[in-house]
Amino acid sequence: MYLIIFICTCLIILTILSICAQQLHELQASVLAYGKLNLHNNKKPTTLWANQLSKWTVPKHYFSHFYVIGLITAIVSIAELVFLSCFNKSLFIMQLLDQYDTRAGTHHVSQQQCIVGLTLLTCHLSRRVYESFWIEKPSKTATMHASHYLIGIGFYGAMVLGTWLEGVSNVESSLSQPQDTYFNIASLSAILLFLYASYHQYKCHSILSLLRQSKDEGTYSIPRGDWFEMLVTPHYFADILIYLSLNILYRFQNYILICGLIWTIVNLSIVSGETQMWYQSHFSAEKLNQAFPHGRKRILPGLY
Ligand SMILES: NC(=O)c1ccc[n+]([C@@H]2O[C@H](COP(=O)([O-])OP(=O)(O)OC[C@H]3O[C@@H](n4cnc5c(N)ncnc54)[C@H](OP(=O)(O)O)[C@@H]3O)[C@@H](O)[C@H]2O)c1
Repeated sequence: MYLIIFICTCLIILTILSICAQQLHELQASVLAYGKLNLHNNKKPTTLWANQLSKWTVPKHYFSHFYVIGLITAIVSIAELVFLSCFNKSLFIMQLLDQYDTRAGTHHVSQQQCIVGLTLLTCHLSRRVYESFWIEKPSKTATMHASHYLIGIGFYGAMVLGTWLEGVSNVESSLSQPQDTYFNIASLSAILLFLYASYHQYKCHSILSLLRQSKDEGTYSIPRGDWFEMLVTPHYFADILIYLSLNILYRFQNYILICGLIWTIVNLSIVSGETQMWYQSHFSAEKLNQAFPHGRKRILPGLY
C-alpha cells in the first residue's frame, strides 16, 4: 500500500508541477522545452539560477532508455507474477514489498486484469523499443532537461508496477481459489482501443521518421498524412488513448493508472500547445495554411 500511495503522490505532484512550470516564465524557459521546442525558443531564462538549471541537459535520443528500462521492469514483473501464481513463491520485488510494505490496497484489481494489463503494457514498451532503435531518426543535437529524463525513467517503471501491484494479492491466491475468467465487453473494448491507438501511434512515428533522410540530420518539416491531417500532435493523442484503454480494462479502479492517465493528458497537452506555437513560429502562416486550409486541433480531435 505504501508503494501505491508513493507512486500516486509522485504523479499528482508532477502533474501540479508541470502546470506550474508552464505558468512560470523562468521554469518554462529553463526546464519545460525539449527537442525541437528548444530551437528558436525565445523564452530564455533571465535569472542566474534558471540559467544554471537550464544547463542540466541530456541528449533527447535518451528517450529510448525509458522504454528499455520499462521493458526490463515488465520482464521482471512477468517473472514475479509467474512465480507467485504458479509456485506461490516471491521473487525480488515481492520479497522487498513483504519486508517493507503491507498488503492493504492490493485486492481491488482481478488477476485477469493484472495479466492482461501487464501484457498490453509490455507490448507497448516492446513496440517503443523497436521504434526507438529501428524506426525513429532523432537528431543528435536535440536535448531534454535532466529532470525530464529522471521523470521518464520513473514514469514507465511506475506504470509497469501499476498494472499488477493493486491486484497482487489476487494473483497470489489464484492457486487456492479459482479465478473469474469471464471476459466481458469492457475488456474487449479496452484491447481493441489499445490496438487501434498503437497502430496509429506507430504510423505517426513512422511519418515523422520519414521526414528525415538520415539519422544524423536535425532538420524539421511539416508532417502530413494519417492523424497529422487533423492534429498537430496525433502521436500524443494516441498515447492518451493507450492509457485510457488500460483504465477501461481496470474499470477506472486502478489508482496508479488513473494518476498515469491524468499526468499523460496534462503533460502532453502542455507540450502539444508549445508544439503548435513552435510550428507557427518555425513555418510561415502561408505554408501552414496551404498544408491545412481548415487548420488543425492540437491534441484532441474536434476539441482542443
Ligand atoms: N506518457 C507521457 O507522459 C509521454 C511524455 C512524452 C512523450 N511521450 C510519448 O513519446 C513519444 C515521443 O514523444 P516526443 O515528445 O519525443 O515527440 P516528438 O517531439 O514529436 O519527437 C518524436 C520524433 O519525431 C521527430 N520529429 C518531431 N517533429 C518533427 C518534425 N516536424 N520533422 C522531423 N522530425 C520530427 C523527433 O526528432 P528530434 O528528436 O530531433 O526532435 C523525434 O525523433 C510520443 O508518442 C509521446 O506520446 C509520452
